[in-house]
Formats: sequence, structure tokens, C-alpha cells
Amino acid sequence: MCGIVGYVGRERSLEVLLGGLKRLEYRGYDSAGVAIIADDGQLHTAKRAGRLSVLTDELQRHPISNGRTGIGHTRWATHGGPTDHNAHPHLGDDGKLALIHNGIIENFSALKEELLAEGYTFTSETDSEAAAVLLGREYAATGDLVEAFRRVVTRLEGAFTLLALHQDQPDVVVGARRNSPLVIGLGDGENFLGSDVAAFVEYTKRAVAIGQDQIVTITPDAVTVTDFDGNVVEVDEFEIAWDASASEKGGWSSFMAKEISEEPDAVANTILGRVVDGKVVIPELDELGDEVLTDINRIVIIACGTAAYAGMVGSYAIEQWARVPVQVELSHEFRYRDPVLTPQTLVISISQSGETMDTLMAVKYAREAGARAISVCNTQGATIPRESDAAVYTHAGPEVAVASTKAFVAQITALYLFGLHLARVRGALDEAQLAANVAELTAIPEKLARVLESSESIAQLARWMSDTRAVLFLGRHVGYPIALEGALKLKELAYIHAEGFAAGELKHGPIALIEAGQPVFVVVPSPIGSPELHKKVVSNIQEIRARGARVIAIAEQGDAAVLPFADEVVPIPLAGPLFEPLLGVIPLQIFAMELAAAKGLDVDQPRNLAKSVTVE
Ligand code: F6R
Repeated sequence: MCGIVGYVGRERSLEVLLGGLKRLEYRGYDSAGVAIIADDGQLHTAKRAGRLSVLTDELQRHPISNGRTGIGHTRWATHGGPTDHNAHPHLGDDGKLALIHNGIIENFSALKEELLAEGYTFTSETDSEAAAVLLGREYAATGDLVEAFRRVVTRLEGAFTLLALHQDQPDVVVGARRNSPLVIGLGDGENFLGSDVAAFVEYTKRAVAIGQDQIVTITPDAVTVTDFDGNVVEVDEFEIAWDASASEKGGWSSFMAKEISEEPDAVANTILGRVVDGKVVIPELDELGDEVLTDINRIVIIACGTAAYAGMVGSYAIEQWARVPVQVELSHEFRYRDPVLTPQTLVISISQSGETMDTLMAVKYAREAGARAISVCNTQGATIPRESDAAVYTHAGPEVAVASTKAFVAQITALYLFGLHLARVRGALDEAQLAANVAELTAIPEKLARVLESSESIAQLARWMSDTRAVLFLGRHVGYPIALEGALKLKELAYIHAEGFAAGELKHGPIALIEAGQPVFVVVPSPIGSPELHKKVVSNIQEIRARGARVIAIAEQGDAAVLPFADEVVPIPLAGPLFEPLLGVIPLQIFAMELAAAKGLDVDQPRNLAKSVTVE
């Protein structure tokens, strides 16, 4: 939610800011703006409602002076609609200071009233402008941007990343964060700030994550990080593991198409280095210690959206392999219902971005209540892994399309690796069982590549169905979360009403929705690996077919029992029952993407959404 970039260095801030915003646009695309201290010593700003391209077109028509220092913002609206006035930056100190904000300032009304009473004026409906005006007041009182920041942050309630600059301090950008992300990029004679490393990866691979409640000051040659009281804090530098081209479209029609094509690599890279001589090793868990893993008596997986569906898939495998009860909960439900948590509870959070506020708050809550927390995350330097006892990174590479695809299969892979590790530590599976499952997992990337070969036939199906108004998805066991995920993808990308159901639930209500021509995707269990469930799902198919449904079956290659009852069959390679979801989800992702494309929609940036949901 909102992308932030800051820069000090050479005469090119506009170019750096617009490049960074382009890469951060997945975080929000309601409006965009920049503020630059130009060589004339004046602060210049430009901001426009709409996508970044609206701002760049405007800047072509009416260029602003470039300079050495600047900040830029791409917005996902919370307080105040997506208008030019509400776009960031916001100004303070009579237009000499500019500020951008990601997060929500919960006490902004009280601050605004206080400032209005003192005669200050406002031009927007945002919470952020209160911080800009307040910072202006404190700057006027102190003449120092860092000191003014310190005074302001102690007055703010809620979540924020703030960046600001003042034309009287032309080579300085100051930032602060509480519960919203901010990362530093270390350059040579120039330094960067960004909501994530994508903001500056084109210029440097050296990065530093900023901790909670810290203030950072960057100049061309120095970076200083302090706590809110002004005490200097030690920071850890890390190297960004991917390069700028990883976050480019590279000839694909969309980021989503590219990211789906990368799914075999996302799984392979997540396994890489974690299977040694046929055995799972997860060095990231060493610090936590095996005793914690033998001591736990319950696992709670917390996540939102697609990540929660990955968690559901993982829960079947972890419970079956390690014989520990596993429960999956949406982070926002978990935190507010007073759950039972003990030191024997292991909380596993799953988050591609590592910044989802609902999940972050749930992790903090769980740890404060005494539980241990492991994070499954795809983004280096993100907040959730830093707030956890240990982190198991997925190595899917940067995911730019707002709808999650490759991160989903990487998350399931990481959970499976964890499940096998846990089963070994707890002695729940013998060596042969462990080895058989490891072999299944390591065979997945090649099978995924085979599923991708059927992309064109799925695209054709999507084009035929582009007028469809509602689609149902059925699945059973690990196929159930895949049905939910298929429905979510279709809703968010193609704006079509879609519902996922557990196939066993059909007769308890949803079958009433079936009428002539109703499209129903059915994720069919393997006739070889799960013969019993397979029979039941084939019966379900017959039941809906008898009532006129149009059945599209995602079924194992050679599944002859499905053929007579399905209108379309999308074959997937043979895999053990627990491994099928990694393959079965791909046709559903492709279907949703192609149907959205056939309707002329933007598959990378669906309406109303943002990739990183950093507000509750
Ligand atoms: C759907 C989607 C979202 C995210 C959810 C959690 O395609 O992308 O449902 O999965 O917002 O995001 P992360 O994984 O970043 O915590």
C-alpha cells in the first residue's frame, strides 16, 4: 500500500524517482507524485491522480527542474479519494518542505484540529497532510529536519513510513518508520530509500533494512540511523539477491504471464540448497533449535488471501507427516479473537511481501503471548521475518503482478520442506518415507514445466468463456484450497463472481446454484494416489452434470473415469496426492489471467487492489 522512494546524490533525482516508482507501482496505483530540490535551490513538486503514466505524461508536457535530492510516492488511497489534491507529496513550512507517507495516522483528526486552531491550512482530505503540516511547524521551531522528525513521530499514532525533505537542507532526505516498510540502498556518492529494494535495485545491490521506530538520514555520502530518542543504532547490510532484470517484463505480455512461466524455477530455487544427499536441511531453523520443534504440541498457520490458501495446502501435509495438529487462520481473524497460545504453540506466518499488516500484527501478538514464530517470506529485508524467531525464505524472485502466482507454489514448497524437516526431527516418518516425499518434491519443477505446455489450450478455453458471469470451483482434500485459490484469481483479475467449495459440501447447499450451462471447474484427486476420494469426486461431477453444469476437470493424465462426464479435461502429470496442488493450480491461474486479458483488463494491476497490504 503506497510505494515510497527517496534519493540524494547526482543530478538525476527525477530519473531515479520515476524508475523507482515504476517498480513500486504494484504497491498502489491511485495517484503518483514527486518532490525535488532543484539546482535553483527551490522545492518543485508534481502530482497527479491515476497511474504513474499520467504523471509522466504531465511531466513531459510541463517538465520540472531536476536536481540532486528528491522523494516520490505512488498511492493506494485510504483517507481521501484518489484525486490530485490527495496525491502525495504534501507540503509544510509554506511550501518549503515536502512529505510522503505510507500507512495510516490514526490520530490525524486531533492533530489537524490542533493545527487548524493555530491557523494552519490544509488542501487535502488525507491523514498524511497532518504529518506534513506538523513537520513544517516543528521545522520552523527547530531549523533542523531530523530534530523536527523526532518531535513529530512521538505525536503520531498508527502505522507510518514517512520521508521528507526541506529546501533549506538541500542534500538531505529524512525517513522514519513504525510498522510500515523502509529499506536503505547504499550507493557511491548517492544513497536511496525505498519501500522495498525494487525501488533502487537498478543502481545498487547493497541494502540495509531499518528496524521499528527508527529514523534514517541520508546524504550523498552518509547514512545515519537512530531510534526515536536520537540514539545511533547499528545496522546490518545485506546484498540484494536478484538483479533489476528480474523485475522487468522481459518480452512477456504481462508480469503475471512472466511470473507463471517462472513457477518451475520458483519451486526449484526454493528447494535449492535445502535437499542435501536426499535429506531436507533448513539451516535457517538451526538457531531456533530442534528442541523447540520437538517441544511444540500445535501449529497455527496465519496468512491472508492466496498465502492463506498455500497455508491450507501446507497444513494437510505437515499434519499428515509430522503428526502435529495444524490449524490455519486468517491473520486478521486470529488476532482479535483471544486465541489460546502457549510456548508450545508454533505460529507459522506466510507472506510474499513480508509486510502485510494483518499478518505482521498477528505475529507480534502471538510472540507477545509466548508462542514461537517462524516466517515463510519471499522478500529480503521485510518486516515480518525480522519480527519472527526464524525465517524460511521462498526463493521465487520478485513478484510484481498484484495477483500472486509463483509465490503461491514457492510457499507450498517451503511448507513441505518444513513439514518433512519436522517429521524427521520428531521421528514421525522413517527414512524411506522421507526419501519418497523428497523425491516427489524435487520432481515437481519438471512436471510444472509440462503443465505450462498446455497454456494455449487453457487460453483458448478462457477466450470461449469470456462472457461468463459466474464460475464455481470444486475440490476435495488438498484440492479444496486449490478450488478456493482458483476462485480468488478469477474474482480479482476478471471481476467475475466465483466461488470455491469443498466438493463434499456440494449437497449441503451449493448444488442449488447449478443450472444449465453453469461452468464448474473440478480439481479431481488422483485415481491412483487417492482412489477413494477420486470416486467421490467423480460422483459429484455426475451429480452436477445431471443438472446441466458445464464441467471443466483438472485431472491426472490418463484418468479415464472422468472423461465421459467432463466437457473439458485439463490434464496434469501424475504426482503423489499431496503434491497435486502444485500442478493443479497452474491451469486455474492461466485461465483467470487469459479470461481477464480477453476482457481487455489489466492483469497486472486489477482495480482497487494493491500488492502489499500495509494497512489493517
Ligand atoms: C491474491 C493475493 C493476495 C495476497 C495477500 C497476502 O492474488 O496476492 O491475496 O496473497 O494479500 O499477501 P502477502 O503474501 O504479501 O502477505
